[in-house]
Amino acid sequence: MGLRGRDVLSVDDLSAEEVREVLGLARHLKRERRAGLAHPALGGKSVALLFEKPSLRTRVTFEVGVRELGGYAVYLAPQDVQLGVRETAADVARNLGRWVDGLVARVYRHDTLREMVDASPVPVVNALSDREHPCQALADLLTLEEKLGGFQGRRVAWVGDGNNVCHSFLLAAAKVGLSVHVATPPGYSPDAAVIEAARQAAARSGAAVQVGTDPRAAVAGAHAVYTDVWTSMGQESEREQRASRFRPYQVNAALLALADPAAVVLHCLPAHRGEEITDDVLDGPQSVVLDQAENRLHVQKALLALVL
Ligand code: CP
Repeated sequence: MGLRGRDVLSVDDLSAEEVREVLGLARHLKRERRAGLAHPALGGKSVALLFEKPSLRTRVTFEVGVRELGGYAVYLAPQDVQLGVRETAADVARNLGRWVDGLVARVYRHDTLREMVDASPVPVVNALSDREHPCQALADLLTLEEKLGGFQGRRVAWVGDGNNVCHSFLLAAAKVGLSVHVATPPGYSPDAAVIEAARQAAARSGAAVQVGTDPRAAVAGAHAVYTDVWTSMGQESEREQRASRFRPYQVNAALLALADPAAVVLHCLPAHRGEEITDDVLDGPQSVVLDQAENRLHVQKALLALVL
């Protein structure tokens, strides 16, 4: 049946084979783009990009990606639609589905995406919710595949908040056989259901999923170190409390020195420099954050080409 017509709200909406299919097409599209070759998979199709929150990478990569595939992207800013205020999410999805071939939505509440899926006659793709960021995770896998040469036998340390990006990364890594050791402050662990789903996928792929509170244990010998902001969009009132609890989880030169000497550093960006990551690490020779950002374009083009 393939991915055509499917919604992608979670990494778990994709099988391990489908994750690999997206990565394979993304590699192909990346090569073609570099060779100057067009790939008009979305010729004549329109995609609505509906954002409740600010964005640099997601908005630009989806907008450019749709255009590069020969389609037309309509960006709807937070103030344009006012989901749930001016109209319900379901009504917005019903209307958009009469005009466009796909919806890409960034929302505060994951349930908003579920309401859209229930009402939408066209596929919905999650461009970040409070639960997951699947497009980011696909870009992370493409980046790690390029930098580490594969997934089997490799381990990533996730250091910091067990947030939406962590959820999608755990699920995606476990599907492809990439081991992950998560270290968060007590009380900030990933959701228990996500850990369980990742462990089940890891049992099938041969990966390992460890979740604890010791950043040094997570990073020791790791092939990649991944961190994200300590305070995500919508959690601004917790910023001071989080800054104090997360301070021992800063990715700095001393922590990175515990990793494999060839380890790469990941961050989905935007970064809060001097908080979860220091400038010397973010801008240093082991950082691959701009490759991650570039790969958002290639994986999202692949995903849209397969779904729409
Ligand atoms: N990583 C990411 O989703 O970036 P933006 O918030 O800028 O889209």
